[in-house]
Amino acid sequence: MTRNAISLNGSWTSRWVFILAATGSAVGLGNIWKFPYMTGMYGGGAFVMMYLVCIVLVGMPIMIAETLIGRRARMSPVNAMRSLAVEAGASPRFAWPALIGMVAALLILSFYSVIAGWSLDYILGMGTGRFQSVDANAAGALFAGLTADPWRLTIWHTLFMALTGFVIARGVVAGLEKSLRVMMPLLFVLLLMLLGYSVTTGHFMQGFHFLFNFQPDKVLDGLLAAMGHAFFTLSVGVGSIMVYGSYMPRQASIGATVLTVGILDTLVALTAGMALFPIVFAGGLEPGAGPGLMFVTLPVAFGSIPFGQVMGTVFFVLVLIAAWTSSISMLEPAVAYLVERTGRSRVAITTVLAMLCWLVGMGTVLSFNVGAPAKFFVFAEDGFHFFQWGAEGGRNFFDSIDYLTSRILLPLGGLAFVLFAGWVLTRDTVRDELNMRSPLAFTLVYWSMRVVAPVGVLVVFVAELAKQ
Ligand code: TRP
Repeated sequence: MTRNAISLNGSWTSRWVFILAATGSAVGLGNIWKFPYMTGMYGGGAFVMMYLVCIVLVGMPIMIAETLIGRRARMSPVNAMRSLAVEAGASPRFAWPALIGMVAALLILSFYSVIAGWSLDYILGMGTGRFQSVDANAAGALFAGLTADPWRLTIWHTLFMALTGFVIARGVVAGLEKSLRVMMPLLFVLLLMLLGYSVTTGHFMQGFHFLFNFQPDKVLDGLLAAMGHAFFTLSVGVGSIMVYGSYMPRQASIGATVLTVGILDTLVALTAGMALFPIVFAGGLEPGAGPGLMFVTLPVAFGSIPFGQVMGTVFFVLVLIAAWTSSISMLEPAVAYLVERTGRSRVAITTVLAMLCWLVGMGTVLSFNVGAPAKFFVFAEDGFHFFQWGAEGGRNFFDSIDYLTSRILLPLGGLAFVLFAGWVLTRDTVRDELNMRSPLAFTLVYWSMRVVAPVGVLVVFVAELAKQ
């Protein structure tokens, strides 16, 4: 079979654009918002260590697998998996993991948009001086005020979803390149400036210790959480990277590009952590505060430094853009698939999907205020309840979607993709697509996809079950 030169949905102009796009997808709220609060919740160094191990041993091989599957087939994930499976003489049912991934990506987008909406609110707040010289308490109260107000949350959620739909409707390939070229370096510079500030708090070493002080006895606590986050932060397990891979030029080296993306993503997360925790400790805040951590700590920092108002505004604009370049990668697999499948316009398909995600996102909006007592997956004394109003334990809507996607769907999706690349595709196909100069590097990558990554996922699942 001759391979398509380009996908129906477009093609990047060079390998740099793939790196930019994949980095844009990977670097997002996961690095700046989620990584610090997860680290805080799971006690610091042990979580960070497991996260790093999972990035290298599991996340990177899966990212390579997704990219190569996408580029080989030059179709949306569902059709890519199906056609490559059929071509290899395997069952067309291999399209299923991609289909489930597609839905998982839309579920992630539903809450991602709400959180990204918080940064929209903070852009306004910073710009108008709402956070001028606030202390930790005042910042906490302002954040609580935001999440308690469903209307305000809804407005920002709606606006962010519209922004995401706008880029996707125009086509990823057309819109993305320019914004990423400016945004990524700027984000990094501002993170470094924040880091500079956190050194002046006098609590830098305490923060550093918290992040990197490895406590072996705590490893099991957050193992599945760390693996789930490794998937989340690299955008793997749902087909986001696969669909971007399908737009990648033939001659680009997959190994080198994926490595670049993984390193950049990790650097941003660690820098964000090093910048945030000293501020947390200096302000006497709780590292385990949960999803509000970044939104409570950063105003304190920006509220008390020269030009803080301007820098704070710029920072939240960057957070917004980082979230934006990630959110589009969640919508793209489904849009690309439905364009191929129905032949309808991108605009129509994007509109319908964005509205669906918006609706599901309203569940997250309400879970922070009037809907907070609605609990799912409740294990009570009288047994298991899927839903219970006002239960003590259980997870609210936001927690449930986050748990379902990060801890279950992403690892299973990633497992399916990496097994597919390692065991369904022939060795020659994989070698041809990876096109690595060093045979040793190829062998390492190939076996990491065949054995290391799948075993890693399974071990973490088993360890988690054993913990119960
Ligand atoms: N990686 C992004 C972040 O860290 C989020 C993201 C984009 C994502 N695409 C994804 C997460 C696909 C899971 C699956 O913010």
